[in-house]
Amino acid sequence: MADLLSRLAHMLDPEAAHVWAIRALGGWGRSGAPLAGAMPRLATVVAGVTFPNPVGLAAGLDKDARAIPGLMALGFGSVEVGTLTPRAQPGNPKPRLFRLAEDRAVINRMGFNNGGLAAGVARAAAATRRGGVLGINVGANKDATDRIADYVAGVRAAAAVADYVTINISSPNTPGLRDLQQGAALDELLAACVVERGTTPLFLKIAPDLDAAGIDGVAKAAIARGVDALVIGNTTISRPALRSAHAGETGGLSGAPLRALAAAKLAEVRAATGGQIALVAAGGIDSGAEAYARIRAGASLVQLYSALVYEGPGLPRRVVTELAACLARDGFASVAEAVGA
Ligand SMILES: Cc1cc2nc3c(=O)[nH]c(=O)nc-3n(C[C@H](O)[C@H](O)[C@H](O)COP(=O)(O)O)c2cc1C
Repeated sequence: MADLLSRLAHMLDPEAAHVWAIRALGGWGRSGAPLAGAMPRLATVVAGVTFPNPVGLAAGLDKDARAIPGLMALGFGSVEVGTLTPRAQPGNPKPRLFRLAEDRAVINRMGFNNGGLAAGVARAAAATRRGGVLGINVGANKDATDRIADYVAGVRAAAAVADYVTINISSPNTPGLRDLQQGAALDELLAACVVERGTTPLFLKIAPDLDAAGIDGVAKAAIARGVDALVIGNTTISRPALRSAHAGETGGLSGAPLRALAAAKLAEVRAATGGQIALVAAGGIDSGAEAYARIRAGASLVQLYSALVYEGPGLPRRVVTELAACLARDGFASVAEAVGA
């Protein structure tokens, strides 16, 4: 049934398929049984939160927290909903989501379309979590006059409900947003957000397009302000060689062509931080072997999104199972033992 669903979804226009899949998962999660069995070797504690496994759903698929139980039932150890902005906003004009099938990639310029923070957080609060970890990802409205105030409002509301909160300053689709990744603005943002999060862990999601100096600056500021983890990272505005007709579309690129860049940036961030802050790897992860490679390179957790579009809903379970086999093969008794090893 899962395969049939994913084949049908590929016949629709990408955004229609997306909305349809969320609806199907929303309904399924209420009635369906969880698919993933417990694998004790994969349970891992990051920032004081116990993740049943380190494979999470990256932000942006379930922006409005409509399908948390269904997504957790696919086998994800965590689901990150959002990005939510204080006020509902429509996002960019359509089309804004492109499948690059030949490249196993996606380009999107959604622009934080979402139904607003209050509605999303209320839905998240009401959702059954099935033992999975819930992250809420927050951002700023496109027309915000005070972006930092938007993040502060987001962190405050999300921290009351989420197991962790991610501040996303790395979307390429809100003009100027990525400027928050540096200098005084970054430090002011982090100082304000660490106060608002109370005791809830705070993650910071950065772009894979940061250069060495940019990474150094973010790492220093995040560690100094007590941020719990860095997510590396978001989509890229760079364009490695692509074959698909949609290669020239404006937006953020994700999926297979992002893999090498995301892995290289993870290694750079690990070198710059030396284990002083937890890392979450995202970008082109589509197998247990790739998840394992990122963990060995220093990530405590991994996230994926685009590969789900191509591999279908069986993917999370497959990644989790393969990852467990990789750990066992190399003699690691836990995920934590393998991090950066
Ligand atoms: C259609 C789409 C929408 C996304 N929306 C968000 C978002 O709202 N917030 C966010 O932090 N990341 C968003 N992302 C980025 C993903 O969370 C992830 O960081 C990125 O796609 C790299 O992982 P992947 O190669 O496994 O897709 C989005 C990605 C895609 C493909």
